[in-house]
Order: sequence, then structure tokens, then C-alpha cells
Amino acid sequence: MDRRDFIKKSMASVTLIAGSGMLLPSCKKDLRSELMGIDRVQGKPAQLDNDGYKILYYASLAPSGHNSQPWFVKIISKTQWVIGSDSDRWLLQVDGENRETMLALGAFIENLAQAANAFGYAVETTIIAKERFDSDVVKIDLVKSKALNIPLQRILTRRTVRSHLLSKELNASDVNDFSKSADGHLSYFPVGTEHADFINKAEVDNYTVQSENKKAMEELALWIRFHDDKARKFRDGLTVDGMEISGFAGWYVSHFMDNKDVMTKAFSDKGIEKTKKQVTEGAGWLVITSDGNRVKDLIETGRRFQRMALTAREKMIAIHPMTQVLEEKNGQKHIKKEHEAGVIPQFMLRIGYLNKYPDSVSLRRPVEWFVRS
Ligand SMILES: Cc1cc2nc3c(=O)[nH]c(=O)nc-3n(C[C@H](O)[C@H](O)[C@H](O)COP(=O)(O)O)c2cc1C
Repeated sequence: MDRRDFIKKSMASVTLIAGSGMLLPSCKKDLRSELMGIDRVQGKPAQLDNDGYKILYYASLAPSGHNSQPWFVKIISKTQWVIGSDSDRWLLQVDGENRETMLALGAFIENLAQAANAFGYAVETTIIAKERFDSDVVKIDLVKSKALNIPLQRILTRRTVRSHLLSKELNASDVNDFSKSADGHLSYFPVGTEHADFINKAEVDNYTVQSENKKAMEELALWIRFHDDKARKFRDGLTVDGMEISGFAGWYVSHFMDNKDVMTKAFSDKGIEKTKKQVTEGAGWLVITSDGNRVKDLIETGRRFQRMALTAREKMIAIHPMTQVLEEKNGQKHIKKEHEAGVIPQFMLRIGYLNKYPDSVSLRRPVEWFVRS
């Protein structure tokens, strides 16, 4: 056993006991504020003007499963783009039908549309993909028009929040607002109700099944950025901050763990334990549904989700997508039984009020990395 292994083994148990919530004072600047910023243009592609570059920067702050950022953008002209789906970034082990890829592209397009409206462009979108594995998905036409007063700060500060959710029920007015953003395709199951308990159990069961699936864990390992050098190099995936592992646990994980540790029993046990705890916290579940499963339906659902998510911070509401129940075959069957044919759950969102809203920390690739001419 070398010195690093010795330190790692002797500290592992301490970290697992300390868990991820233990905070130590840290003077480390987070990578997002170090690396990212709307005014930090690093190499604007010649085909884009300043507005175009900024619109795509805002678009790229969209959420995606494992933060895989499954998009590319083909620039046809300054005002005509094609949003594409990057097959190198598909999560085929957990998202074998590319459903979540389409949802993430929908969120990207919602950010894009809001930013374009704020910069004085109307946006026309045309779905060009016939199926979920097509490379070219949506054509975008920007048409100069009156700038709308849209708070872009919402896009900069939106984030997934998984910790410290309060178990107080959501106010009816907040649920109504969310439902409007989701065009009515939303149901709320408050904490303590039978259906919320049903979802809690289904989430833990399916998380457990997934964490015992070697291929799913190998895929996850590819997207974890335990060390800053990898995070800086790839600017995607799940960083230690992004996974909300803070304080001593965060320090330990970023110094002593690497991607092969994701395959250990200790790692999956810790994940299951954390999931069991998470479902006991919060205001219950929001479920976003769609009427169909075509590309068009999924893009629209991603947009609805994002419209809702962009208003969560001002309401002090955390949103935590937990997708395993919709990814695992048994989970899908179980959930399908509970719904009529035309009501298809697409997002299972654990939600809850927060006392303090954390800053956004997840990384994104710069625009020039995902633009193709
Ligand atoms: C379709 C989709 C599925 C997701 N599934 C999960 C999930 O199962 N568990 C989780 O903790 N986060 C999930 N997320 C959140 C992503 O991990 C998160 O968006 C990504 O890491 C970027 O972080 P940010 O949302 O804070 O910008 C999902 C997001 C999307 C869009």
C-alpha cells in the first residue's frame, strides 16, 4: 500500500460518516466564476456576431442529465442555425431511447429563445428531426424585432439543488405559477400524501437497481470530474461542487477519489443511502407530463420544464430532477400503470423551499467548442 492509498483508506470511513453536508471553511474560488462569464469571449467563431455569441452562451446554461451537454449548433448564417444532438454525449446506458437528450435540447432552446427575445430577436423554431437519434433536431430562425424585458439573470443563476430542502408544502400560488409555465402539464403530489410516498419508494428502488448496473455506473464514471484539471479540460460532467459534496467530504473526494472508485460497492451504497435521505426531505414531487412521445413533444416538454425552472430561485424553491424511475424498465412499467395513455410522465422533480439559495456551480463548454460551421 503506497502513502496515497494509506491516507485514502484511513480517511474513507471518516468521510462516509461525515457525509456531504459537513461544511469546513474554504477559501477556494469555485471553478464556474473562475472560468465562465458572459463577457469572457475566448474565441468568437467568425460566423457569429456578438448577439449570436451571447444568445448561445445563455442557451448553453441549460441543464442536462450528467451535465453531458448533448448539443451542437451548426451556423448556416448569422440568423439561421441548426441545433443538433451530439452522439458522443448521449447517455445510452441510462437513457437508451434518447428521451432525456431531447428534453435537454428543449431546455437549451428555451434559454436560447428567452435570450434572443431579450436581445431583440423573435425566434422561429422548426422541428427537423424525424426521430430521437437524428443528428439535426431543430432549425432556428432569428428575426429582428423589439427587445423584450426578460430577466436574463434567471438563466445565469438557475441551478439544480439537491440539499437542505424544507419539508413544508408548496403554496398554491407557487404551484399555479409553475403550472402556467408548464402549460398545465404539471401535477403536484405534496409531502406525506400516498402518491408522494409511492414515488419516494419507486425512486429509491430504481436508484438501487441502477447503482447495481455495472454499465450504467461505468457510464456515470465517464462524466464525473473529481479533479479540477479534468473539469477545466472538459468543462462538462459532474464536478464535486456540482454533486454538492462540500466541506471536508468535498476536499477528500477531490484529493483521493478517482473514476474507478465509482465502480465500488462503497460508492453505490453511499449513493443509495443519500437517495433514501433525500426522499425524506422536501415538499413532495412535481411531475411534468406530455401528451405524446415524439421529438416535438419532448422538445416542448424540455422547454416547459425550463420555463418553470427559471422562476424557481425567486420563489426560493429547489428543483431536483430524479430520473431513475423513468429510466429503469421496471420503474417505467410501474409508472405507466398509474397513468392514462395520453398522460406521459417525463420529469419527476423533487422540490422544496430553501432558506438559502446556493450559487450556480456547474460548468459549461464555451460556445466555440460546440459551434460547427
Ligand atoms: C433530463 C434531465 C435529467 C436529470 N436527471 C437527474 C437525476 O436523475 N439526478 C440528479 O441529481 N440530477 C439530474 N439532473 C440534473 C443535472 O444533473 C444538472 O442539470 C446538471 O448537472 C447541470 O447542473 P445545473 O442544473 O445545476 O446547471 C437532470 C437534468 C435533466 C435536464
